[in-house]
Amino acid sequence: MNYKIIDTKVLGDETGHLISFEKGSNCPFELKRTFYIFDTVPNKVRGQHANRNSEFILIAISGSCKVKIDDGKNQEIVELNTPHKALYLDKMLWKDMYDFSYNAILLVLTNTNYDESEYIRNYDEFLKEIKND
Ligand code: TYD
Repeated sequence: MNYKIIDTKVLGDETGHLISFEKGSNCPFELKRTFYIFDTVPNKVRGQHANRNSEFILIAISGSCKVKIDDGKNQEIVELNTPHKALYLDKMLWKDMYDFSYNAILLVLTNTNYDESEYIRNYDEFLKEIKND
């Protein structure tokens, strides 16, 4: 399955920490956009789409959530519960984000500008496009 957990290196000193993502070291793409998902209503599922062109890095910078990743054949679940853990997702993966904790903030980095036409929001359409690849 085309995802991986990125090793993060914690920088900073005794006054505090930071983690950086940079193309050529721990970020596999040129960053074009970032957004964060927050105030998710309890029991609500976010995502529920695949992207034809976007790759993503997801980090729970506060709180926790789960990500179900589906490549059309297999499904795997990754829990994000620390700012130290970054999840890289390739394009053409169906993703559901759920089980958000109170005050969860999910930071998302991607290689594309927002373009609704590259989103696949219908699961059957996703399966059809995967098969035709
Ligand atoms: P959506 O992808 O449905 O959010 P989620 O994956 O968290 O369920 O996006 C919600 C709305 O925000 C939708 O109207 C599209 C818009 N949007 C942008 O305008 N720019 C962006 O970068 C993103 C991610 C979403």
